[in-house]
Amino acid sequence: MAVRRRSKEMGETKGLIETISHEQAEDLAGRIRSVLHTTTFGQQMIVLPRTGSTNDVARELAGQGAREGTIVLAEEQTAGRGRLQRRWLAPPGTCLLLSILFRPRLPLDQAQWLTALCAMAAADAIETVAGLHVGLKWPNDLIVRQSALQPLSRAGRKLAGVLTETGVMGNRLDYLIVGIGINVNVPTDALATLSPEATSILAETGRTTDRATLLATLLLNVEERYRRLYTGEHPRAEWTRRLVTVGQSVCATSGAVAIQGIAEAVDETGALLIRTAEGQVHRLVAGDATLSTQGT
Ligand code: BTN
Repeated sequence: MAVRRRSKEMGETKGLIETISHEQAEDLAGRIRSVLHTTTFGQQMIVLPRTGSTNDVARELAGQGAREGTIVLAEEQTAGRGRLQRRWLAPPGTCLLLSILFRPRLPLDQAQWLTALCAMAAADAIETVAGLHVGLKWPNDLIVRQSALQPLSRAGRKLAGVLTETGVMGNRLDYLIVGIGINVNVPTDALATLSPEATSILAETGRTTDRATLLATLLLNVEERYRRLYTGEHPRAEWTRRLVTVGQSVCATSGAVAIQGIAEAVDETGALLIRTAEGQVHRLVAGDATLSTQGT
């Protein structure tokens, strides 16, 4: 496990105030090492005090031949991104901001299942370590439905998100990067600076969570679930069962298209199947599906 000093080639900005020191990042790396029980995931880990986006660093490492299970963790991102060109903001030193490198032996249309696998691994880790029950919202959000904060809507508040990016060679996956951002110890009064619907483990439980333990648990869950995937245990059934979206009335958007209907199921590629009032079934491959105010 290594802590990288800021460097130009990692795409970092020179001359800005560094809020998390190299020593603090090194301390976090040491604490993770002491509680990590995996054999692959996290055995190669780079911990950065600050970077642009951990997904970009992971892609760079993938291009240099880094092995499966390599993790890039940052205490601060200056260009953190979410899905659909959104920004991902996190106060330095309070969250888990990481990217996991996979080199999957899977067909391209199965890539979505690694997003689902990591989202479930993260949800389980939060439940185990922090005792907080987390819902999964298609395609990749971890939410708290019964928030301790002022409830916003039936959709709940967002605790974490997953952003998957792929590297393709010919018609196969060369590598896949799953970026995960979890709001861990963000104080309630700082949440509004992230997004109007954000929450954190601290805001929900009133307790500070040890990020090293949470990360080590998450990586162990990923490793076990990934191993089970190759022994034939496909995540689709569990994913469908756990999604708060399935069985609900949703308003879905994909680009400029909006669909209102009941989310009925998830197909074999992870796409959401939505039946409209007219009985037409739409297959949503990407986009957002918000639980609408009417319905169950
Ligand atoms: C989303 O909900 O839209 C996905 C958010 C993913 C954020 C994480 S933080 C670590 C990794 N690096 C990034 O730039 N994004 C992901």
